[in-house]
Amino acid sequence: MDFKSKIRVIEGFPKEGISFKDVTTLLSDGEAYQAAIKACLEMLEGINYDVVVGPEARGFLIGAPLAVMAQKGFVPIRKPGKLPYETIKHEYFLEYGSDVLEVHKDAIKPGDKVLVVDDLLATGGTAKAVCELIEKLGGEVVGLAFLMELDFLDGRKVLDGYKVLSAINYE
Ligand code: PRP
Repeated sequence: MDFKSKIRVIEGFPKEGISFKDVTTLLSDGEAYQAAIKACLEMLEGINYDVVVGPEARGFLIGAPLAVMAQKGFVPIRKPGKLPYETIKHEYFLEYGSDVLEVHKDAIKPGDKVLVVDDLLATGGTAKAVCELIEKLGGEVVGLAFLMELDFLDGRKVLDGYKVLSAINYE
């Protein structure tokens, strides 16, 4: 399937110069959504993982259905103050300011083989923070799968040493 034709591009959102990849148009097309999840599963063939981890919010939209189809559990990574049980946090720094992500401290067990899933790899800041959280809990990141990757932002560099896969690439 030509996934790019299903993803709407909005020029100048959220600010000038950015060409925003609006995945909602793919998600609302049942056939395209299922095909996209299947494409992600196919690229993961040969990777052995126990659990899928995905960051709020768009990471849930790809990570959760992928986990269900792979018959794996799903662990949500959330913005601060959302998770009810004890959490660990990781602060990461962006161009302007910083952000914090949290995970339940018992969500990943030492030695778990973890697959990180998100809709988009841009600068790699979010994915790197997710890896830090998993590793703080003793999990092993065996791969990262993205529906889309913005090649020109070089997020892979930030994820050097990890196995990084994406189904759709924007050059
Ligand atoms: C988007 C996207 C990724 C992240 C990619 O999430 O879903 O998680 O940005 O960017 P990066 O590689 O530069 O870190 P966003 O923070 O916009 O939050 P949302 O999923 O809640 O919309």
